Amino acid sequence: MFWLLIVSLFAVLLARAYRNTFDLNIRRVNVAVQPSECRGESGSFKPLTVLHLSDLHMENFSIPAERIVRDFSGQHIDLIAITGDLLDRHKNIPKAVAYVETVMKLNPRLGTFVVFGNHDYVLAPPKLGQLKAELERIGCRVLVNQHVTLIHDGMPLHVIGVDNYSTGHSDLAASFRHVPTDGVRLVLTHDPNLVLEMRDYSYDYLLSGHFHGGQIHWPKPFHLVTMGQLPKLNMVKGLHHYDGRPFYISEGLGQTGLNIRLRSRPEITLHTLVPAGAPSALPTAETAAAAQMKGSAAKPHAATNPGKVATEAGRTLALE
Ligand SMILES: [Fe+2]
Repeated sequence: MFWLLIVSLFAVLLARAYRNTFDLNIRRVNVAVQPSECRGESGSFKPLTVLHLSDLHMENFSIPAERIVRDFSGQHIDLIAITGDLLDRHKNIPKAVAYVETVMKLNPRLGTFVVFGNHDYVLAPPKLGQLKAELERIGCRVLVNQHVTLIHDGMPLHVIGVDNYSTGHSDLAASFRHVPTDGVRLVLTHDPNLVLEMRDYSYDYLLSGHFHGGQIHWPKPFHLVTMGQLPKLNMVKGLHHYDGRPFYISEGLGQTGLNIRLRSRPEITLHTLVPAGAPSALPTAETAAAAQMKGSAAKPHAATNPGKVATEAGRTLALE
C-alpha cells in the first residue's frame, strides 16, 4: 500500500511536470540604456522591441510556433533574437527551420538573428553548416563571433553574436572587432557565463538562455552546479547585472532530457530598450522601481549603475 501511494504520487508529479511544458510564460522586460556616445542631438530614440526565443530544442518542445505568432500578432517587433540550442539531431533541421520561419511571420522590422548553443554543436560540422545555411536561406542572420550594425531611429544598433562559451567556441575579440563606439550594443549569446569574461568588452544589454530556469527546479536545481559560476551566484533566469551591466537569462522554450518542467515554465520574452532618462517612454504598469546596485552578484529584477538603469516588468501577460 505504501509503495502504491508513492508510485501514485510520483505519477501525479510527472503528469503535472509534463503539463507545465505547455504553460507558456510570456514576459515583458523594459531596459533603459545610455550608450557611451549618443545618437543624434536629442540623445533619444524610439523604444526598440526585441522578441527573444531561446533553447527551442526541437526534440522536446510543447509550444507550437503558430501559438507564438498568434500571441504576438499586431505587436510591433523590431527584431527577433534566438539564443541557441535549436536542436540536437540533424534529422530535426527541417523542423527547426520551419519553426523559425513560422515565427518570422511576425515580420520583425530589422530582421531575425540567431546564435548557436552547446546542443547545436552536437551536430557534426557539415550538419551544423547545413543548419546555418538553411537559416540564412529563410532570411536569418546567423552570427558566429561577429557583429552587424543596423540603424534604428537614426541610431546605430550593433547586434553582436558571440558563439557558445561552454563549448569553447566563443571569441570575444573577434566578436567585438571593429564595433563602432557610438550607438547601442546588444549582445546575443547562449551561455550567460560569458558575462564573467566581459570586463573589457563594453555592451548595453545581453540576451542568453542555456539554464532552462533549472527545468527541474525542485526543490533546487542542483544539477546546474556543473554549468559554470552563475548558478553558484544564484543567477539562473531573469534579469541580472554583472559589472554593472544588465543581462537576461531566458528559461527557454523547449526541454532537454525528459520533457518535463518543475518550478519552471517555457518562456518567451519581449524586451523593450529605451533611452535612459526617458522613463515616460516605458509603459507605467510594467515599470518597476530601479535601485542602484553597482558591481557583480546582483539580485534579479533590480538595477544598476548611474547612467544605465534597468527595469523589469516582473509580471506575466495573460495572453493565453
Ligand atoms: Fe538548452
